[in-house]
Amino acid sequence: MKEPISGFSKLSKEEKIKWLTATYLNDDSKAIEVLKQYWNKDEKLQQLHEEFTENTISNYYLPFGIAPNFLINNELFAIPMAIEESSVIAAASKAAKFWGSRGGFKTEVIDTIKVGQVHFIYKGSEEKLELFFNELEPKLRAAAAPLTKNMEKRGGGIKSIELRERTTEVENYYQLHCNFETVDSMGANFINSCLEKFAEVLEKEAAIWEDFNAEERNIEIVMSILSNYVPECIVRAEVTCPLKELSDDKNFSGEHFAEKFIRAVKIAETEPFRAVTHNKGIMNGIDAVVLATGNDFRAIEAGVHAYASKDGQYSSLTHAKIEDGIFRFWIEVPLALGTVGGLTSLHPLVKLAMDILGQPNARKLMEIVAVAGLAQNFAAVKSLITTGIQKGHMKMHLMNILNQHNATLEEKASLIEYYKTNVVSHSDVATQLEKLRK
Ligand code: MEV
Repeated sequence: MKEPISGFSKLSKEEKIKWLTATYLNDDSKAIEVLKQYWNKDEKLQQLHEEFTENTISNYYLPFGIAPNFLINNELFAIPMAIEESSVIAAASKAAKFWGSRGGFKTEVIDTIKVGQVHFIYKGSEEKLELFFNELEPKLRAAAAPLTKNMEKRGGGIKSIELRERTTEVENYYQLHCNFETVDSMGANFINSCLEKFAEVLEKEAAIWEDFNAEERNIEIVMSILSNYVPECIVRAEVTCPLKELSDDKNFSGEHFAEKFIRAVKIAETEPFRAVTHNKGIMNGIDAVVLATGNDFRAIEAGVHAYASKDGQYSSLTHAKIEDGIFRFWIEVPLALGTVGGLTSLHPLVKLAMDILGQPNARKLMEIVAVAGLAQNFAAVKSLITTGIQKGHMKMHLMNILNQHNATLEEKASLIEYYKTNVVSHSDVATQLEKLRK
């Protein structure tokens, strides 16, 4: 019978592993070996990784790959991607090459507003609350001035503070809905610090506001936190080309390809079951770059999917149309990214990723990430409406299957050659390996 452990976080790494393997892994020495195999030999580097979070017992590797040849606003990028899915980097690279010879990707940051809210309970006259808020607003800004000073020097700060009444949804519920500009930082700490200061001042000032009665003075702060829903922190990326240049497949005319492609996108715009998978493919590209550049992919995921539902039904993030003989394919996506602070100055591979990208600022990184999403979606939909997804996917997955069967280098070389002209499946790889091994 297992017992809960208290003080686990206080144990040393070795003690944690000892407890874990004794309690859950039958004291398996192989398990300890696996955990230790992933420790970095450079102790300082290992310690750095351990200190990113709590209770670290090993490192978890993801492939760090490069998708080259991305022409974005006439500048060539090699995009670093951290991802385990076999076909993603190959698909991105293919799409980059395809659009590189058709003018490349064009991007535009539409806005960079980030949001935070102080949620509070106020029981009393709304009119009085509004009058109070009008007087309060400059006091909130003044109280946050020490926090905003540096951000303002960099061109950011508090953009607006608004009182919002939400009492129909939750009894007596109001918010301070605040907009921020955080320039090159993702801004979570800055926003949360400002919000907590606002909450403190709101509570204190209400308690001494003469026009309030006793109940009205007693404002209750529920919570103060940034929102990962950032519908006004938006970037657009697009590709265009004349219809006649669109197809690279002799079985398809540009017109035919465009028609099939636009219809597939339309399906994702109107059918949530398809939209989720369509957007998942986009996130294959987006998350991989977000991770490689040390940004918070959970925040990005949450914000992107909320945005995909902004019109009341979950829908495609990309759109396509033909206009005057020109095929146009674009994405509009909210991306609250940072290029300073957080992991960006700590993780050696993240720093390298930033170097590879030419030390982009946050706006430029938004553009690059959006392009990775658009490229990924183009590659996926192109495969889906032409060859089907499995052909390319299984080819890329071949190495995983070979590794599952512990194939030797010679076996791998031989079967990679064989599958250049044959269809990959799990069972067929097993059969071919068996043949080779006889
Ligand atoms: C697989 O990871 C992603 C796709 O399913 C995306 C799509 O269907 O568009 C291929």
